[in-house]
Amino acid sequence: MNILVIGSGGREHAVIKAIKKNPTVETIYCLPGNGGIAADAICVNIGAKDIDGIVKFAAENKIDYAIVTPDDPLVLGCVDALNAIGIPCFGPDKKAAIIEGSKAFSKDLMKKYGIPTAAYEIFDDMDKAIAYLQDKDMPIVIKADGLALGKGVIIAQNLAEAEEAVRSMMADKVFGASGDHVVIEEFLTGPEVSVLAFTDGKTMVPMVSSMDHKRAHDNDEGLNTGGMGTIAPNPYYTADIADVCMETIFLPTMNAMNAEGRTFKGCLYFGLMLTPKGPKVIEYNCRFGDPETQVVLPLLESDLLTVMRAVTEERLAEVGVKFAADKSACCVIMASAGYPEAYEKGYEITIPADVADSVYVAGAALKDGKLVTNGGRVLGVTAIADTLPEAIKASYAKVDTISFGNAFCRRDIGQRALKAIK
Ligand code: AMP
Ligand code: GLY
Repeated sequence: MNILVIGSGGREHAVIKAIKKNPTVETIYCLPGNGGIAADAICVNIGAKDIDGIVKFAAENKIDYAIVTPDDPLVLGCVDALNAIGIPCFGPDKKAAIIEGSKAFSKDLMKKYGIPTAAYEIFDDMDKAIAYLQDKDMPIVIKADGLALGKGVIIAQNLAEAEEAVRSMMADKVFGASGDHVVIEEFLTGPEVSVLAFTDGKTMVPMVSSMDHKRAHDNDEGLNTGGMGTIAPNPYYTADIADVCMETIFLPTMNAMNAEGRTFKGCLYFGLMLTPKGPKVIEYNCRFGDPETQVVLPLLESDLLTVMRAVTEERLAEVGVKFAADKSACCVIMASAGYPEAYEKGYEITIPADVADSVYVAGAALKDGKLVTNGGRVLGVTAIADTLPEAIKASYAKVDTISFGNAFCRRDIGQRALKAIK
């Protein structure tokens, strides 16, 4: 089979390494991919948002199956466009991808179907939004409606910050059209858990739980990033809590999307907060998380491509999805100093051959045959072990064998999770 993967991050690299294990796979193309992914797939410089370019490439290269991983092409209807020329895909169609594409949609869905989430109001008028804030408890959370590269969420500590957040989104348009509507919601507290789930609209199969580390620096300080590291499983997510989530969140979400005529097929990402009043949904993503995927897929014992095709063909119930039950994984992201703000690029990256298998490259390019840094988050390094402390130690041991100019990483990935175990 010829497989097409859309995207260019560490997550896509992890997906590609996993599907490569399937013996029916002949060629894997990645659009656009990156210099590190090029070791495992043929990368072609067609952007993930260039739907016409993707469709043309797929038609010309005898693609048997496509995996659309990032939010943008999913929300733009990449799956619909590939399906239209007869190519089966992993990933939701445009109608279903709205669950991530519009926070207003997802909040209204949860309200309509009684799925637990933070109390909220949606505004398209700035003056009304600001009037609403006046007597509210602080902190309060302000979210731009559309995709904003994971940055469209501001937690305002006081009224002045809240008003400023609304103005920056609705008047100054710092997130572009994503700020035409804003969601203002109650501030929740509790441990956060990421749960990715395979679903074909009939069956829901949660994967092993994980924990992201979003802030740039140790002790959860600094700016929000795309994610500086992950661990799995998440020790806060007990079997009892998993049962509650299945009953009150996962299945109700699948059924709600079906009832709306928006059947979701693909990987549905539940960003959860375990509040004192029970688990609540912070956000839905219509795709694999990054860098959650870099700890979840290495723990998957079943064949990923087989599971994905079963999702596409709506026979997920027939295939087994097995995870290494007694193992833990840790992924540490190595970034360019300065990220998520300005950083330098072009430094040569050295990765010893014996760790390359567990390195997922995100921001790198090939220059004169050498791998050089080309992004904020450069690569992720995953280790698997029998216990979480061992997995953390092993991933940092690998990190310390990799070098590039201006490299930095958090040194405390997994420490929050270890506190839960103690
Ligand atoms: P999101 O992009 O919606 O995942 O939000 C980014 C981060 O903001 C989340 O991972 C949470 O840490 C935080 N956050 C979002 N919504 C809330 C909320 N209602 N209460 C507390 N924290 C929140
Ligand atoms: N790790 C969070 C995300 O993929 O959105």
